[in-house]
Amino acid sequence: MKIICTENYEKMSQCASKIVLNELKKKRCLLGLATGSTPEGLYFELAKAYREKRADFSNVTTVNLDEYVSLPPEHEESYRYFMEKHLFEKIEIDRARTHLPSGIGEPFSECEKYDRLLRDLGRIDLQILGLGLNGHIGFNEPSDFFEKDTHVVSLSESTIEANSRFFQNREEVPRRAITMGIRPIMQAKKVLILVSGKKKAEIAKRAFLGEVTPQVPASILQLHPNAIVIGDRDALSGIMA
Ligand code: GLP
Repeated sequence: MKIICTENYEKMSQCASKIVLNELKKKRCLLGLATGSTPEGLYFELAKAYREKRADFSNVTTVNLDEYVSLPPEHEESYRYFMEKHLFEKIEIDRARTHLPSGIGEPFSECEKYDRLLRDLGRIDLQILGLGLNGHIGFNEPSDFFEKDTHVVSLSESTIEANSRFFQNREEVPRRAITMGIRPIMQAKKVLILVSGKKKAEIAKRAFLGEVTPQVPASILQLHPNAIVIGDRDALSGIMA
């Protein structure tokens, strides 16, 4: 696992965008995308690169990690909406090549459908990840085992609490989500984990220096052959100290 420490959030985003832009130059690129506030700066940089004609998304297919159960795509807090707002609307990309699990529809059959899609698409070339405060990746929450395939997850109290900042109130946060499992993440050719801010320092240390355990789902990334953590000084203060 390679760990890159940058001065601040902006530099973290720029450093990540260089890696993604390099990946886009390949003939075919299956890009794994994440939501949350951490990758917003990266998406800003990618949209800027597109405007400045430094990026071309015509060879790109995207797969997102997760979606809230019950939120339709037009809901402002759905992850489809997030992706439209922060990236897809700002670049030229065929929507038929942008994939997220559907929050509507029967959740268990949506999981099967998403796994079929992932199998058909093949290995992800580059998977972008954020880090939840409890060590989750996508919505793979702390558990007694690593869940390999796409599954429906009951969100933990700490995740509901953390994500309530995006909703009118805590009650509006969906209690369940559909998330990609650990398998496609671990099979990705490269993973890029972004971490920012002091509040992530403790979990970043546990995830990247601590024991590999499903209680800290991101810790499994220590076993990935090509994982790069890009964090700002605050988030990596426990690791670099
Ligand atoms: C959400 C997403 C994750 C994300 C995490 C951290 O729950 N499902 O993919 O990594 O939150 O979010 P943030 O970057 O806002 O701290």
